[in-house]
Amino acid sequence: MPDAASAPVVFVWPGDLHLETADRENYRAAEWMIEEVNHLIRPDFVQFAGDNAQHATAEQFALFMGLARRLHAPFYPLVGDHDVHHDPRGEAFRAWCGEPYGAFSLRGFRFIRLNTMEFRPLGMSDEQVAWFRYEVDRAVARGERPVVFQHHYPYQIWESFEGPGIDTWRQIVQTRRITAIFAGHTHYGQIANDGRNLCVATRSIGDPEGGPPSYTVCYLHGDDLALACRSQGDHGPLLLITHPRRTLLAQDARHIVQGADVCRVRIWAEQAVQTVRGRIDGGEWFDFSPDGACEWAAPLPGDRLAKGEHQLEVEAADVQAGVAAVSQNFMVDRSGRYTAVPQVDVLVKETRFC
Ligand SMILES: [Fe+2]
Repeated sequence: MPDAASAPVVFVWPGDLHLETADRENYRAAEWMIEEVNHLIRPDFVQFAGDNAQHATAEQFALFMGLARRLHAPFYPLVGDHDVHHDPRGEAFRAWCGEPYGAFSLRGFRFIRLNTMEFRPLGMSDEQVAWFRYEVDRAVARGERPVVFQHHYPYQIWESFEGPGIDTWRQIVQTRRITAIFAGHTHYGQIANDGRNLCVATRSIGDPEGGPPSYTVCYLHGDDLALACRSQGDHGPLLLITHPRRTLLAQDARHIVQGADVCRVRIWAEQAVQTVRGRIDGGEWFDFSPDGACEWAAPLPGDRLAKGEHQLEVEAADVQAGVAAVSQNFMVDRSGRYTAVPQVDVLVKETRFC
């Protein structure tokens, strides 16, 4: 694959903003997110999840674009239900934010933005789903991995993921290998692996459920996909295990350890990172070595691990004793067999609003 040896793609996926006025808490949360993204994460791009403007007024879209233009990285808005509040054709969105769907390529990935608000409560026109199918097929033919962005999360409680075009959408994502489907709208954070597709929803910036406002940092590199959730109030380095893939995110045998391998982490820190160490299944700690500007690596003895699930813990400390720690499970099978177990994290059975 052409991207395996190239640099990773890092993008930020903030949840719904629901901007109304600059004196509200969600505006301040959006400012916090933009400040951190500019000075800590420095991603390749920022993809907004939709519901940018609460009632789709010119003043609210001006507020959104004023914030978004502070980003140092390129940004792309999605259309949410609030962005077409009284404006079913999305004329204001188009005037302020641009085309409601589109796609671009970056380092081996094809990032595809869908507009699921062409019908109410949700749906896509024949024209758009035909374009979607063409985009995915052309990407795969070029050796690119498709990544999908859409406002509506397919597993949102209190909503039916049905409407014009959705059956065709299902047919496309079930018969092509989609790297992941990123969604907003839920206001709660959740990752679903249905055994075939990965769907990722980020807790929102405006009116969040389940915790403080947050955004997701997504790392993509060849077959590696890793996600970190950063919440308002978090401080210190942000540490992400980029390899091996977390069990929850593994779709097939490409995403499990099959022999001797490498543990890799990415660290975003304002201070210089001094030490990084890890351990597997609570065993002896081992040191990571620097591997590039902000990545660290250590051997992973996958050829000596038993078939099944294992735990990797990693800790990093910066020169001012700021510490970050993460832990995640990964799968091992040296015979290279794996079928994903459908699961979600976190399990949500009821919510207050969304
Ligand atoms: Fe929303």
